[in-house]
This record gives sequence, C-alpha cells and structure tokens, in this order.
Amino acid sequence: MASRRESAISVDSIAAESSAIPQSAPPAPLSKPLPNPHADPPAAPARPPPSAPPTGAAPAYRAAPQSAVSAPHTFDPDAQYSLEDYEILDTLGTGTFGRVQLVRLKHLPASRPDAYFAMKILAKSEVVRLKQVEHINSERAILSEVQHPFIVNLRHTLQDSRNVYMIMDYVPGGEIFSHLRRAGRFPTDVTRFYIATLVLAIDYMHRQKVIYRDLKPENLLLDSRGYTKITDFGFAKHVEGRTWTLCGTPEYLAPEIIESKGHGQAVDWWALGILAYEMLAGFPPYFDDHPFGTYEKILKGNLAFPSHVDSVSRDLIRSLLNKDVSKRLGNLRGGAEDVKNHFWFHGVDWRALEAGHLQAPIIPRRGAPGTTENFSKYAAPEANSMPGLRGREADAAAMAADQYAHLFRAF
Ligand SMILES: Nc1ncnc2c1ncn2[C@@H]1O[C@H](COP(=O)(O)OP(=O)(O)OP(=O)(O)O)[C@@H](O)[C@H]1O
Ligand SMILES: [Mg+2]
Repeated sequence: MASRRESAISVDSIAAESSAIPQSAPPAPLSKPLPNPHADPPAAPARPPPSAPPTGAAPAYRAAPQSAVSAPHTFDPDAQYSLEDYEILDTLGTGTFGRVQLVRLKHLPASRPDAYFAMKILAKSEVVRLKQVEHINSERAILSEVQHPFIVNLRHTLQDSRNVYMIMDYVPGGEIFSHLRRAGRFPTDVTRFYIATLVLAIDYMHRQKVIYRDLKPENLLLDSRGYTKITDFGFAKHVEGRTWTLCGTPEYLAPEIIESKGHGQAVDWWALGILAYEMLAGFPPYFDDHPFGTYEKILKGNLAFPSHVDSVSRDLIRSLLNKDVSKRLGNLRGGAEDVKNHFWFHGVDWRALEAGHLQAPIIPRRGAPGTTENFSKYAAPEANSMPGLRGREADAAAMAADQYAHLFRAF
C-alpha cells in the first residue's frame, strides 16, 4: 500500500475489462524527509477566461509567442502561449495516459515562483486507445470552469501532432500521499484540516453539478502554505442525476460504482470516508493484492479500525461509508452541511479555513523557485516526445496528417 495508485481507467463493466485496472504494486521506499521552513504564497494572477475552441477542422495551434521585449512580468492571460514558450524541466508525476512536467515560461525570470507551471501531457493515441477522449475533453472543460481555493488552477491548453497539454499553476508542496506515507499516519487534528478543506471543495463541486470521482492522496497536493489543492479532473463529470461508467481507483470506489447500479454525488462522500480512514490509519479500510479482492471487501463492508482511532472519528467514517446511499452522510437532505455539523468537525472555523486564515499542519519545505524537492524523482521524458517544442513550423506536416486532432478541438 506504499506505492502510488494509478486511477483505474473507466470501463463499461468490471468483468469486461478487469485486467485493465492497474493493481497495487509492492511497497516502494519512501522519498526523503522534509524539513519544515515557512512559506508565503506567490501572488496568483487571475484565472484567464477559457480559450474558445477553434472553429474549423484546422490544427489547434496557438498564435506565435509574444516577443520577450514586450512580455509582461507574469503569466499574461491574453497572450496565446505556444509550446515553444515553455522550458521543460523535471517530471512531477506519471499517470495512466501521460505525465506531468514542471515547466517554466521562458520569458519570466527563473527567480520568480510564478514563472513555473505544471504541464500535464497526454498522448492522443493512448487517450484514443483507452477510450478516454470524452473524459479528457471533460477534464479540460471542467477544470477551466471551476474556481476554488482548494482546486488547482488551469491556465490554458494546447495540442501538437502527438499530445494534448494542460498548463496549470505549479503546486510545489508535493502530494499528500508522500507526506502521509512518510508520516505513517496523521494525527486527528492534521486529518481534520485536510478533510475539512475537502468538504468545502466537494460541496463547491457538487453545487456546480460536478462529481469528482478520483479522491485519493495521490491527487491531493499541498501549496506553498500547506493548503490542499485537488488536481486530476480526469474522471470529473457534470452529472445532475446518475451516471454508469466504472471509473476511479479500486480502494476508493463506492459500492454502487462496483455494482454498476448507477452512481451520483454520493460517491465523493464515500471516497472522503475512505480518505479520512487512510489518513488516520495509514492504510485504506479495504484493500487486497488484486482489485477484485478489494471490490469483494468493499461490498462485504467489514469495517475494522485500528485501536488508536477514537470513537468520534469512527462515527464520522462509518456515516460516510454507509453502503446505503440514501443514508450516507453528505447525501442526505442537509447535504454538505450535515457533514460540517458532524461532531468530529466541532470547532472548525469554516470561513477562516476557506479564506486561508488558518495555520496548515504541514508547511512544505520551500527551496528555490521551481524546486521539485517535495516530489518523487522520475525519469526524463523521451527525446522527441513533444514534437511541438521544435516549433509549429517544424511540426506542421505531422499536425496536418494527425488523424486525432479533430477529437481534441478544444485544446
Ligand atoms: N498542478 C500541479 N502541480 C504539481 N504537481 C502536479 C500538478 N498536477 C499534477 N501533478 C502531479 O502529477 C501527478 C499526476 O497527475 P494526474 O493525477 O493529473 O495524472 P493522471 O495521468 O490522471 O494520473 P492517474 O491516472 O495516475 O490518476 C499528480 O499525482 C501530481 O503528483
Ligand atoms: Mg492522478
């Protein structure tokens, strides 16, 4: 349970494509420990309006970059940046379809924290092969709509002849996953801070009629002040009622997803219960070497707690992990308010939390701007894996021949 869990790709039924669901790998060594300096947030410029999808079938290249002489000193929401404007730096994470790279906007000085961005790169052929075109377009659309202090900020998107790219603000404090595995487990107060931020973010998303569907410590980052930022909207979906596709990560799947009964917002409250358990215990409540074993345990629902987990925490988790969606906390008439009113959150100042006025429990190590010391180390991407870096002229012929460009017009 120590290694990162990739999201299961979505499939129509578990039986049909169970082999496509990545299995838990054996424990990996933890990355190096973090000292604890203080950090101030870099001033975040306002979110740019989502760029309009190109109209014709022409390749979705952006206009040429601005010249460095007239360039502003921060990310310019009106500039139409292209791949050539970015310097590709360390890999921050790898996922099912691609990778996330730290990048620097070349015209901004390397000494500025806001010169750095996280670029999620997805190979179009893989997205098509794994039948994820709709999900990737939905990820782009939803991320460009949502705006919340605890959700990562998407700046803009691009495509070249091989990949689609999502350029987000760089969240430098690393994954909660790494902090949790390093600590073993979190004390109740630490857990409460993160879970409370997520209650606010889930409440916000559900009000936008978005279900997130991939809550897990690997998708939760810490900003420079130690506040939560949710990333990875690959499975987020606009849903008013129920939806049927199986997707998520095995240990975090609600029973109604496994049973293909149709699922809705309640799955995020279930996942929050799993997350609270995993933070307090150091491992999730239901897991097995094989996804099917995990599913069986989830459906059986034997919930056992380590002895150190107190009774109020147990009550919260049991209420969230109610297999009956009509009785699950968060999915009742009172919605997120019921969750906030649970005694476990007694004393939480929700407004101060949302405004970022509370001291976070873990302040990530803050090195030089653009440092990736809070992230695991990954191999560099293959040479030539981003053809657009050579410039749009150089990639023009391949782009014209790209059979997938029309599937990603919004990028
Ligand atoms: N804005 C960001 N700032 C810093 N790191 C990020 C950012 N976005 C993503 N990452 C890192 O990259 C990793 C992979 O990103 P993401 O989860 O979006 O990819 P994915 O391909 O959907 O992954 P998976 O399929 O495994 O869930 C994250 O777990 C995180 O470590
Ligand atoms: Mg992820």
